[in-house]
Order: sequence, then C-alpha cells, then structure tokens
Amino acid sequence: MTVRRSILAGFGGYLPERVMTNDDLAKIVDTSDEWIVERTGIRQRHIAADDQVTSDLAFEAAKAALTDAGADAAEVDMIVLATATPDETFPATATKVQHQLGMTRGAAFDVQAVCTGFIFALATADNFIKAGQAESVLVIGAETFTRILDWTDRSTCVLFGDGAGAVLLRAGEGDGSFQDRGILSSTLHSDGSKHDLLYADGGPSTTQNAGVVKMEGRQVFKQAVTNLAAVVGETLDGTGLDMSDVDWLVPHQANRRILDGTAKKLGMAAEKVVITVGEHANTSAASVPLALSTAVADGRIKPGDLIMMEAMGSGMTWGASLARL
Ligand code: ACO
Repeated sequence: MTVRRSILAGFGGYLPERVMTNDDLAKIVDTSDEWIVERTGIRQRHIAADDQVTSDLAFEAAKAALTDAGADAAEVDMIVLATATPDETFPATATKVQHQLGMTRGAAFDVQAVCTGFIFALATADNFIKAGQAESVLVIGAETFTRILDWTDRSTCVLFGDGAGAVLLRAGEGDGSFQDRGILSSTLHSDGSKHDLLYADGGPSTTQNAGVVKMEGRQVFKQAVTNLAAVVGETLDGTGLDMSDVDWLVPHQANRRILDGTAKKLGMAAEKVVITVGEHANTSAASVPLALSTAVADGRIKPGDLIMMEAMGSGMTWGASLARL
C-alpha cells in the first residue's frame, strides 16, 4: 500500500543578534545568574531589535529552511505559522512572511497554541499534505515573546526569549509502515479549564492591548512533566515503536528541570535529548524548530533517525509528533 507522507525536507532557525545574559537581567530585576541557572538551566536569551517584529524573525528562519531544502519559495503551497506574539491583531503574521518571500499564490495563516504552537502547526500541515491539498508547506514557529513580559516580575521575565524556527514539509510516499520517512503520528490536546495557570492579561477583545505574561510557575511545572510524558506515550501507541526506538527527543525548551524530569519519566538517556534552553531560554512556539534545526545542523540528527517532538504551553495545550528524517 502506498501512502502520502510529509517529509521533513529543510530546517532553519534564527535568533536575533542581541543577547541578554542572566547578569544583564540581574541589573534590572532582583535575581541572579545562580538562581536562574539552578532553577531553569537558562544562561542567556536573545532579544529582537527595536525594528524587528515576529514576521522578520519568521522570514529569516523560513529562508534558511528553504535554502537547506534546496527549494524556492515558488514551490510552497502553504505557510502555517505558530505564534502567540503576532505582528498585529490582524492580518495573520504568516501573510507578511508570504509577501516577504515573494510568494504570490497559496495560503498563509497563523495557528495559536502558545508554546505548543509548532506541534499544532506541524500536525495541521501534515493533514493538508496527507489529504492531497498541498505538496509543499512551510511550518514556522516565531515569537517576540519578550515584548509581552512584565520586566518587573522576576518569576516570569527571566524565562523567555525571542527567536524563530522553520521546517519545509514536502509530500512524499511511504508503504504505510512506521519505518517510513516523514511524520508518522501526532497527538494534540487542550484543556481550557487550566487557563489561569498561564496567560497574557490582555487582548483586542478585553483590554485592547496585548497584556503581559501571568503564570503560576509551580502548577505549570507539575502539569508539564505528567502531560508531556503521557502525550509521548499516546503518540507511540499503535505504532509498534517504543522509546527505545526513538533516536532523539526534541522537546519544547521551557526549563531544564522539565526537560530532565520528562526524559527521566520516559526512560530516555540524557545524551539523546536535544537541549538548547541554556542558549535561548523559552522561545515558545519557536523552541522545538530551533532545537531541531540546531541538532540537524550540527550533525546529531541524521537522515533516517526517529525523532519525538513534544511541547506544552498555555491553554493549557500539549502535544507530540513522531517523525523519521
Ligand atoms: N530570581 C530569584 N528569586 C526568584 C526568582 C528569580 N528570577 N523568581 C522567583 N524567585 C523567588 C520567589 O520569590 C520565591 O521566594 P520566596 O521563597 O522568598 O517567596 C522563591 O524564589 C521560590 O519561588 P517559586 O516560584 O516557588 O520557585 P520555583 O522553584 O517553583 O521556580 C520556576 C520557579 C522556575 C518558574 C518554576 O516554577 C518553573 O520552572 N515552572 C515552570 C514554568 C515554565 O517553564 N513556564 C514556561 C511556560 S509553560 C511551558 O513552556 C511548559
């Protein structure tokens, strides 16, 4: 039996030039490098320049993914962009990237699942490809999260950074087995009852401004490890594969302790987990594609490797995607 598969054909990442270290942060809020590293593993974050908006970061990552795939923007049928920090309330930031890439056809739209956004976008794009409605889709996670931080709240402002990552998906064929290349299985969840654990206290329909991040850190932490381990299990269910078959865990980069806790619960060796949170903090929807593009570029993730991507974020939302390169 021949089936359509979404092949991960190109990877790109972009981090703004400006770096803010923990010591830099300690000059503006009551914190220290020692506290931040011990509780989160974060050493620094990148901050978008004043004249950069989310679409600019997304454009750079998209260009890099197209170059990596040897593709031209003219072949792209669709852009699915995950962000919680769009350039404007409307239109979709994806349409600005579409224009910047010189695309004059196809569809471009945003998805909003905060830190799980890239997993939601990837699953959406995969379904368009599997349905035969697209041959080539750019999936982007991009954020200027530092624009919605309360820089007087040390419990949140130390955790986040700006960045973008992108993957070009191309339609391919497989035999329907879980040895195929491409996206093999995805699971998505939301639970709106957990809204108050993590949200931005604004929006066009409530305060007419974007608001700032509010978080119950301890509660989020507890939810994260349990839900992430469970959703990885669900994504493997029915595939005949288990964690010992997975070459690389590519998690959402929220916090080193969440990464370690989840890996331990899954029985995944630390050296098989891609960890980039120290260098760019939590970049929300950008963090999974940034980690992925980093590990592909440095040769850790190789063609044929089985990878498990997972994320959790505000909503609450959580999800995972299993793919073979
Ligand atoms: N620097 C110094 N001290 C701080 C800081 C800081 N930046 N932030 C908080 N503290 C203090 C608190 O005021 C408190 O002091 P007190 O005991 O005198 O009252 C003390 O540190 C402990 O505070 P807690 O909030 O209980 O610290 P905790 O150990 O829970 O760590 C943290 C906080 C790092 C936020 C943790 O709860 C966490 O990682 N939560 C997950 C949150 C997360 O990753 N969110 C990202 C989005 S969701 C996602 O992506 C999965």
